[in-house]
Amino acid sequence: MKINIYNNKQEIGNAVASVIAGKVLTKTNCILGLATGSTPIPTYNSLIELYKNGVVDFSGVRTFNLDEYYGIGSMHEQSYYKFMYDNLFSKINIDLKNTKIPSSQPKNLEQECIDYDESIEKAGGIDLQILGIGHNGHIAFNEPSDVFTYGTHIVDLTEDTIQANKRFFNSIDEVPKKAITMGIGTILKAREIIIIATGKDKANAIKAMLSKNIDPKCPASILNAHTNVTVFLDKEAASLI
Ligand code: GLP
Repeated sequence: MKINIYNNKQEIGNAVASVIAGKVLTKTNCILGLATGSTPIPTYNSLIELYKNGVVDFSGVRTFNLDEYYGIGSMHEQSYYKFMYDNLFSKINIDLKNTKIPSSQPKNLEQECIDYDESIEKAGGIDLQILGIGHNGHIAFNEPSDVFTYGTHIVDLTEDTIQANKRFFNSIDEVPKKAITMGIGTILKAREIIIIATGKDKANAIKAMLSKNIDPKCPASILNAHTNVTVFLDKEAASLI
């Protein structure tokens, strides 16, 4: 894995947005894999600026998001659908029909998971996948476990993740306990992956990921098996490596 270290979040946002813009400019009908969470927000802000300045055109771009809370409904204030609409899609010229996020309330859960992986395949596969990382080393909502799960699936969120996400909800009881997430195989099929981490609270997860020990107890460690991954860190997230 290549490692790039920056002074702060904004520098990372500008750098990652430049890579994304470069991909969109050079690959016709580029397919992006997108992430939620606070980490990619500077990247999305920088992409919006690039769009406003006429540098990049999203009209031919398709996107697939990593995950969605199960059961809360896509119009919920904290749904990942709403997050993507508010933080990126409503501010660039992407056709909403070309943006896909797992359904929060699918009629048939098993079918939704199968269809999600199939729609990525049919689109031609993800050219560039953006990832954040959880404190426990999770990527998307692939939580630490005894095994890696390959395809898109439903997952029980760990206590650690529920605690980390409670800042977005009125109370811990409102935090969803389940999510639908791309699997490890879905993520690894992306042709290029960027993983971003900022802040001291991510330093342990980054250290575990980079230990080269591929272990489902640190889901991000599977990225050592991919040949085109770049890690974007601020100094704090890089402080233990
Ligand atoms: C959630 C998301 C992940 C994200 C993680 C970290 O669990 N499913 O995709 O990487 O949060 O979030 P943050 O960037 O807010 O620290």
